[in-house]
Amino acid sequence: MPKRALITGITGQDGSYLAELLLAHDYEIHGIIRRASSFNTERLDHIYEDPHNPKARMVLHYGDLSSSEQLTSLIYNLEPDEIYNLGAQSHVRVSFETPEYTGNVTGLGIVRILEAVRRSGIQTRFYQASSSEMFGASPPPQSEDTHFHPRSPYAVAKAYAHWTTVNYREAYNLFLSCGILFNHESPRRGETFVTRKITRALAKILAGKQKVLYLGNLDARRDWGYAPEYVEGMWRILQQDESEDYVLGTGESHSVREFVDEAFSYAGLDWREYVKIDYAYLRPSEVDHLLADASKARQKLGWEPTITFRQLVRIMVDADLQSEGISRAGEGEAILKEHFAEWHQWNGAVSQVLEGRRGTANVG
Ligand code: NAP
Ligand code: GDD
Repeated sequence: MPKRALITGITGQDGSYLAELLLAHDYEIHGIIRRASSFNTERLDHIYEDPHNPKARMVLHYGDLSSSEQLTSLIYNLEPDEIYNLGAQSHVRVSFETPEYTGNVTGLGIVRILEAVRRSGIQTRFYQASSSEMFGASPPPQSEDTHFHPRSPYAVAKAYAHWTTVNYREAYNLFLSCGILFNHESPRRGETFVTRKITRALAKILAGKQKVLYLGNLDARRDWGYAPEYVEGMWRILQQDESEDYVLGTGESHSVREFVDEAFSYAGLDWREYVKIDYAYLRPSEVDHLLADASKARQKLGWEPTITFRQLVRIMVDADLQSEGISRAGEGEAILKEHFAEWHQWNGAVSQVLEGRRGTANVG
């Protein structure tokens, strides 16, 4: 019997990569998607199978983390072997504008899932997408033992969800694990996170569609890795004998300025001619420096990211150049070939997603 997984946030960056990884491991996947007035399954269309096909291994269901109704019935009826809770209002800057909504979805959503798990009595393994953002003002490097000092409504909500998961594990002896993941990026990264904002703007500048890139704090430092390697880490966390929490990150940090410089110079431009500061993008309270100490994951999971900062930038720039119809500098495809087996090559991972059969994967 194939394993059955339930994924919240399947339409997001990580959800789409995780779905691909689990399909490659022969899982049957059930994903929860939000009803939207326009299509929101772009990242999944290339792996979608018509549900009329009895062999279809990915099924999508409407639902929302702000309401128990569908979460509860899916957990009772599907009895998944594994549940990955990746759904969230995940944008830090936006959480300052929508703190109540962020608390409801990113924080309280976990209780809706864990209550259903506890009350149903099913045997399942649960993964919570915790965040390095919870470390906030705590100085680097940050590990599983580092004190949380959240600096945004998003981080506060994630800390609530994290401690709720730990509490349910201790109180009810359930298999519940948290991955405390540092920033991870890819060509599928949401367009308003800084890395993708930079690589997209660069491509548009080269295509003659944009003149200026407005950014906020260039001094912030992040530990940026490549998202497909992190979903492999999530999966490994749930394959362990014991449920525990793990930090995943590269152990190397760079400033936003360094990211801009690396991206623009790869495309042969001087970023200083295009980037301007817009104070609207500053945050009321900022996280200055995130840098992972992921030694526990290395030792216990055998997890170690292989894509370097420089390679990450090249993959992302190449993808955004391709989506603008500009011939890419070309290192990105070779990097994927060198680092990944079949499930993650340029054609499936980037080209097919860019071509996008917008909306094919919708239910209803
Ligand atoms: P993402 O691209 O923003 O995806 C978020 C997902 O959550 C989307 O599928 C979104 O659906 C869904 N969602 C939003 N509100 C929802 C609601 N009310 N009910 C149900 N689903 C909802 O985020 P990501 O980068 O893939 O990250 C995955 C998870 O890891 C998130 O929980 C994030 O906070 C966490 N995390 C991310 C990073 C990172 O660097 N990427 C690091 C640490 C932790 P729509 O497509 O309809 O918007
Ligand atoms: N988004 C954005 N836009 N960020 C900017 C900009 C800009 O124009 N200019 C500078 N920055 C700075 C932000 O102030 C922040 O210090 C840094 O770039 C990274 O911002 P984001 O890419 O928005 O990511 P984040 O670090 O706030 O949050 C991401 O990583 C977390 C893990 O640490 C998100 O993916 C979270 O969901 C995730 O938990």
